[in-house]
Amino acid sequence: MAFFADILAVPDRFQNSNDSQLRYGALGSLRLDPVVVLTAMAAVTQHLGLTSTRSTSHYQPFEVARSLATLDHLSAGRAGWNVVTSFQDAESRNFSRREQIPREKRYDRADEFLEVVHQLWDSWEDDALRFDRAAPLFAEPAKVHHIDHEGEWFSVRGPLNVPRPPQGYPVIVQAGASDRGRDFAAQWADVIFVSHDSLESAKDFYSEMKARVRKKGRDPASLKILPAATPLVGETQALAEEKNRLLQSLIDPVAGLSTLSYHLDVDLGQYPLDSALPDINVPGVKGHYDEVREATDRDKLTLRELGRRYGSRYEGDLVGTPEHVADGLERWFREGAADGFMIAAPYQPGGFEEFVRLVVPELQKRGLFRTAYSGQSLRDHLGLERPAHGAWRERATPRVDRKAA
Ligand SMILES: Cc1cc2nc3c(=O)[nH]c(=O)nc-3n(C[C@H](O)[C@H](O)[C@H](O)COP(=O)(O)O)c2cc1C
Repeated sequence: MAFFADILAVPDRFQNSNDSQLRYGALGSLRLDPVVVLTAMAAVTQHLGLTSTRSTSHYQPFEVARSLATLDHLSAGRAGWNVVTSFQDAESRNFSRREQIPREKRYDRADEFLEVVHQLWDSWEDDALRFDRAAPLFAEPAKVHHIDHEGEWFSVRGPLNVPRPPQGYPVIVQAGASDRGRDFAAQWADVIFVSHDSLESAKDFYSEMKARVRKKGRDPASLKILPAATPLVGETQALAEEKNRLLQSLIDPVAGLSTLSYHLDVDLGQYPLDSALPDINVPGVKGHYDEVREATDRDKLTLRELGRRYGSRYEGDLVGTPEHVADGLERWFREGAADGFMIAAPYQPGGFEEFVRLVVPELQKRGLFRTAYSGQSLRDHLGLERPAHGAWRERATPRVDRKAA
């Protein structure tokens, strides 16, 4: 599965300016629209899953249901949606709002958004298309339904003008780490994307999430947990370390701090570079704060050192030979911290090319990576069932309960 994160602004949280993002080509400086890019990729690939981020705080359910259903049709069942609630005022300002919707409210809206999107995907029954010229019957009107949704945030009549997606519903990916975010994931997600600073915190998260899923009455295996991993691989250990030294020497700490500032939604440019990360109540992404808090406290990092580390995002224990990198990934998998990984590259496209050429064969030798595809859809690749028409209802909190809560 290829996965594109996304945001909807050039961030300006660091010193109230987008200068640092643009100057260093930092993470948020440039983002092509992922659905458009993935659609182009669908045309030149056969098996690759194609997952796009789309925000429930800024888009409308009809738009998202339609574009993801379209991608699922064009790719013969390979679409995924990374559901995000967004976390920057800069994004709100591009969508006719002065500031963000408060976090709890963002998740209320997200819950209703997911309900509406699933109803739209179900607004055509699986066998609604007939293509019967003689009758004539292109589509059976009795099998295409209005949804007549009237809620707190949305009013949507339906039906969608795209038939039910080949996967039933595109794969739902999610990455929230707050209590409410985890609950939302346990309810709706097929895949969780997460980043951790250590094996211990990854294991805690993994077992806590699987327990939450069980409590919702779902099979824990129906939610796949994929931590981010950024391996730096070389044919020899010495080569990998040499690359590491070179890459480290290229990183300006301000680039990393600028990205961390928008992730936390806190201006880190107001603190001296040689001070430590202060204890803050972050309005932004809690998962990223937990990760850097753990690293700062353990390794006694200054902001300068933290900025350098955040600017590179690859971990010391995944720097080395293909065997060494495979050992690290295998350990996380076997010790109950991961069902798989979201691999990022320390540089592109070489970092991906090396991972595929050097590490994948090592994982295959160990029986940890497929050597052939056994199905066509992204759900097949992930070992997830195709949801039947109406299956989303088992996942949704009935709206009356939500109102009472
Ligand atoms: C590993 C990871 C990746 C994320 N990727 C994105 C992203 O691409 N776009 C986005 O708007 N939010 C992204 N988020 C933010 C979450 O989707 C969520 O909006 C945010 O974490 C706030 O929710 P929380 O307080 O439950 O963590 C990411 C979060 C994490 C932990």
